[in-house]
Amino acid sequence: MTAPVLKDSYGRAIRDLRVSVTDRCNFRCFYCLPHGEPPAAPKELMLTYEEIEYLVSIFVSLGIEKVRLTGGEPMLRRDIETLVAKLAQIPGITDLALTTNAFNLHERAAGLKAAGLDRVTISLDSLKPEVFKQMTGVDVLDRVLAGIHAAQRVGLTPIKINAVIVRGHNEDEVADMAAFAREHDITMRFIEYMPLDSGHGWSREQVVSGAEIRQGVNERFLLVAKGGERGSDTSTRYRFADGAPGEIGIIAPVTEPFCGACSRIRLTADGQIRTCLFSKVEHSLRDVLRSGATRSEIIAYIEGVMLKKEPRHYINETFFEQPARTMSLIGG
Ligand code: GTP
Ligand code: 5AD
Ligand code: SF4
Repeated sequence: MTAPVLKDSYGRAIRDLRVSVTDRCNFRCFYCLPHGEPPAAPKELMLTYEEIEYLVSIFVSLGIEKVRLTGGEPMLRRDIETLVAKLAQIPGITDLALTTNAFNLHERAAGLKAAGLDRVTISLDSLKPEVFKQMTGVDVLDRVLAGIHAAQRVGLTPIKINAVIVRGHNEDEVADMAAFAREHDITMRFIEYMPLDSGHGWSREQVVSGAEIRQGVNERFLLVAKGGERGSDTSTRYRFADGAPGEIGIIAPVTEPFCGACSRIRLTADGQIRTCLFSKVEHSLRDVLRSGATRSEIIAYIEGVMLKKEPRHYINETFFEQPARTMSLIGG
């Protein structure tokens, strides 16, 4: 028997599901949520943990292998460990991860690991307290660093750190962050700023290209491209030429788009399927589920939605329009 696989109409296999569990966030990153949160959606529109577990099990039966919990900040949803424990029991998930700002990670890393989480991705945009505060709106660099170390201690590994690099803010720190990756043996990923901020403040001039980031690191630490298939990975990966521990990843969706091999779909906290980060339309799986649809009706719906996945994003076209939902509602 051949293994199941969800395909879109361009022949791309869909293997990664990113589930946002809450729209709420306790940070105010200027590239995401500068003016605070939009009004919270009514609780009854949010998927319950039972609903998420059921839908994820269906996605996995259709060939999804990687599941990532995101937000907003996923740890603001009560007892996220309970959901992690349920998902960890679904056979067929080869990678169960969570993306967090790490505000509460120091206290909760051990519990998440015990619940069955494999690994975490942590946002960290600066190693300077004042720049961190200015970019995220909160003065908590020390807590985040403690969270990173706790995650490492309990084995939520391999840990990946995400830094969105924005001109005029932190582009002068890429080599320092590479030094941090070497010192702590972690993967540091630099991300180009994308037009997904609720303030609509994005401008092309603020985008620091992947090439420029690479050069910034190379000036201090020579990088060597890692061999092997890139597959659906968002990042191009590098090791240090001198054999030091740690890894560098460059995620350049604006200047080096990687849509051709995209394997990702997203489920929002209120149960909408988003077939692309930049989708203009959503598909209410919640309504289908709550209408009393059978498992096979839900499967048919999901398969149909996959065929509507966008071929690529249009950030670089003159007709580009930012989607209504911002990163805090989609989950990165
Ligand atoms: P793994 O690489 O599987 O560990 O997952 P991850 O969530 O740690 O990293 P991923 O590479 O999936 O996402 C990191 C960042 O890349 C996100 O926060 C987004 O900023 C960006 N990103 C992720 N997926 C996409 C995508 O499908 N399209 C675009 N344009 N950007 C993406
Ligand atoms: N551009 C690029 N990445 C972004 N993120 C949030 N907003 C943006 C944006 N406008 C990323 C952050 C965070 C992840 C959840 O999404 O790196 O780690
Ligand atoms: Fe996939 Fe859309 Fe991201 Fe391109 S922009 S990689 S199509 S989710």
